Amino acid sequence: MPTLTEKLGWIGAGRMGYAMAERLAKGGCDISVWNRTRDKALPLEKSGAKVVNRLEELSTKDILFVMVSTLDDVKEVIGKALASGSKPKMIVECSSISLEGSAELRKMLSEKNVQYLAAPVSGNAKVIKAGKLTFVVSGPKPAYEKAKPYLDMMGVGSSYVGEGELARIAKICHNVMLGVVIQNLCEVTVLAQKAGMPRHAFLDFLNKSVMGSMFTRYKTPALVNLDFHVTFTPKLLRKDLDLGLDAGREFEVPMPLTSLTRDLLQQMIGRGMTEQDFSTLLLMQAKASGIELEPENVPVGDGLS
Ligand SMILES: NC(=O)c1ccc[n+]([C@@H]2O[C@H](COP(=O)([O-])OP(=O)(O)OC[C@H]3O[C@@H](n4cnc5c(N)ncnc54)[C@H](OP(=O)(O)O)[C@@H]3O)[C@@H](O)[C@H]2O)c1
Repeated sequence: MPTLTEKLGWIGAGRMGYAMAERLAKGGCDISVWNRTRDKALPLEKSGAKVVNRLEELSTKDILFVMVSTLDDVKEVIGKALASGSKPKMIVECSSISLEGSAELRKMLSEKNVQYLAAPVSGNAKVIKAGKLTFVVSGPKPAYEKAKPYLDMMGVGSSYVGEGELARIAKICHNVMLGVVIQNLCEVTVLAQKAGMPRHAFLDFLNKSVMGSMFTRYKTPALVNLDFHVTFTPKLLRKDLDLGLDAGREFEVPMPLTSLTRDLLQQMIGRGMTEQDFSTLLLMQAKASGIELEPENVPVGDGLS
């Protein structure tokens, strides 16, 4: 077990950032957290984190983690953190952002002599709590070795995929699959129900089969009991499908299923369905099939707890 002596800074205590920083704090790390809406971060103090008032207070940390929303937000917070002229030794950027955006950050940080790892993640807040978060990482190998113990502490570990921005492409591919799979899962679930079987019975079969996965299992409570408490918003998923389509154009790879899924998601967003979980695609599918769904109110496991 390596000694975890680095001083950590953490920017962003949203759904993901909060749960990730909480694992580091509970693991005994020296961690200081800043969130734009400070109140959201304050409960982290109970786990041993220090919540700071000003972003600049994180600029001299050994490793500064960033988990906000979009590239513009990432640039804004890093810009403010470095504005005073002092700088962290390393920045580990975990938000889902584009390849080009990540390369732009790497260039800017290398000019300031700050090491930079692209380290996007797979999993939602509940997955993090269950200790099953995964990272895909790219950047200089020595920097990765230094950050690795902290990444390990936040979940089941990390996959190092090479130099530069390769991790961004891996993450984009992952989330494109997430979008296409949830749309298809909604289609077949509505088909099974319209043909006459309860959703929980169909999903029980699917989850036990070779097609079942950690993802189909943890989405089952939403699809059965219509609990659309947000884990990931439709707009964030649209951002990732757009990143996938951009990458497809850049590398000249046709992505027909991604295009179609993006349009279906856009229809949902256009109808104002933006504040609940992305799995509300189920409701769109039901409407398009001429049925109204009711919660089945059946206790179903999510495979995580
Ligand atoms: N949710 C998931 O299942 C999931 C899974 C994998 C990856 N991701 C990716 O992880 C990132 C975070 O997702 P999330 O679900 O945690 O989002 P979220 O709950 O909406 O949290 C966003 C965080 O970013 C902060 N933020 C946004 N814009 C900012 C700005 N301009 N300046 C300062 N802070 C700003 C927010 O601060 P406030 O609290 O003040 O709003 C909040 O802390 C996204 O890139 C997402 O695509 C999400």
